Amino acid sequence: LFGFKTNKVSGYFNPIQPSKEDKLVLPKNFKYDVVAAFDDVINKAGEKFGQGADYNAYFPINGSNTRGLLVTNHEYTNIFSLGPIVDGKMTADQIQKDLYYQGMSVIEVYRDENGTWKMDTSSKYARRINGMTKFDITGPAKGTAALGNATTATGTFANCSGGVTLWNTVLSCEENFAETAANAKLPETHYGWVVEVDPFDKSFLKKHTALGRFNHENTAMGIAADGRVVVYMGDDKKDACVYKFVSKGKYDKLKGRSNSALLEEGTLYVANLKSGKWLPVTLEEVTKVLNNEKFKNPYGVSAKKEDLIKKFKSQADVVTNCHEAALLVGGTPTDRPEDVEISPFDNTVFICHTNNDIHGNIHGHITRIFEAGNDLGSVEFDFEIFAAGGRQSGFSSPDNLAFDSNGHLWVVTDISSSSQNKGVHKSFMNNGLFVIPTSGADQAKALQFASGPNDSELTGPFFTPDEQTLFLSVQHPGENTTDLNNPTSTWPHRPGDKKARCGVVAISGFKLGN
Ligand code: FEO
Ligand code: CA
Ligand code: CA
Ligand code: CA
Repeated sequence: LFGFKTNKVSGYFNPIQPSKEDKLVLPKNFKYDVVAAFDDVINKAGEKFGQGADYNAYFPINGSNTRGLLVTNHEYTNIFSLGPIVDGKMTADQIQKDLYYQGMSVIEVYRDENGTWKMDTSSKYARRINGMTKFDITGPAKGTAALGNATTATGTFANCSGGVTLWNTVLSCEENFAETAANAKLPETHYGWVVEVDPFDKSFLKKHTALGRFNHENTAMGIAADGRVVVYMGDDKKDACVYKFVSKGKYDKLKGRSNSALLEEGTLYVANLKSGKWLPVTLEEVTKVLNNEKFKNPYGVSAKKEDLIKKFKSQADVVTNCHEAALLVGGTPTDRPEDVEISPFDNTVFICHTNNDIHGNIHGHITRIFEAGNDLGSVEFDFEIFAAGGRQSGFSSPDNLAFDSNGHLWVVTDISSSSQNKGVHKSFMNNGLFVIPTSGADQAKALQFASGPNDSELTGPFFTPDEQTLFLSVQHPGENTTDLNNPTSTWPHRPGDKKARCGVVAISGFKLGN
């Protein structure tokens, strides 16, 4: 029995065993309600919930823990939305569906008098944001040659994880955007950014180029000791870097959403894990490195020096080709950095390095960063491997993270569906959700709280402010399906429905044991 006392609720759960069942398995006395699943109508206009549910964020309406807006990312489509793709080429109709079902959903959710969470499709806020929605571009690349002089961009897609801002908006991260952009013949440089949306205001849609363009996983926002805003970000590729953006200006609570302008100007840093330094990814630094007579290509950069000098002519070029610029200035290539979270307990920063088979890191690990002086604005840090995946810890391939108010980390795993239940991944069975205390006697112990249906991963854990409800996405159940008449999962098992539907569940039961 594991106690998970937080500052708000106390209780216990019996950790579950790994499972291969086509079910969302929870500990005894916990239950879930499916609040929205792929293709459900979300509003009066008839718009549909997207596919590939990932990040979630709950925004209380009038401070309520039982009615609010839920913002969900939609990362990618699959056979259940597009149908089979013949000869690797999408039809025009499939390309339209691909753009439609990615992006984000804003839905209104509530807990009814029986304690069941539901979607309110009469909501005036419910809407889709997808591959067709127009965004304003901000920051150093706006209107520059790097983006073909564009000041706006069509659509967002490949939205993986994200984060909430201090001013009540959502940041959503464009991760593996290349394929969708190429299929739809959209300019590739308009994707791979962090976008910002206001769930309560449909006119507020921004792409912030100051935060760099790469395979963005997430954002984690905090405040430096001097009041500047800090955003930690992972670039989820093999041998890619961990970043933090530090705003030029300072956060002013009274300014509300206008603080968003802080994300338009500041310094983007990349982590060097050997020196323990955050190095600025700026035109000045890139130029300095390229002009050094002893210049040697760093690991991961193969272009010739002359071509690099031609490529990096402005800060717009630096943010647009961020991964290459970061390696040039000394960023450390790491093992697929996914989610990053700042501990509300002690300001340490946790990063999931999910795995990297190039270097034999099959099960991944969670890195913990200690910023100098506990100041998120510091340019120096130390780090430790907080927990390593593998048989001993009982989890493999950590991905999204969420903290409860007592500093317990809630960690979901992402063993790829081609590796699940095979080889060295056998003992972990289906992907799950684990609770890992970050202090005390159980520090770094992983206790399994949930197991997902076949071929799925669990994503986007997000608590209501009172921590009595946990929203969680069930992403890509049944994604190994090749024959729609014989799917590998039919979760959420709707009567008469042969489709596996990714979706978002609300988990209740946290008051248990009070
Ligand atoms: Fe979309 Fe990096 O997970
Ligand atoms: Ca992820
Ligand atoms: Ca992942
Ligand atoms: Ca994934």
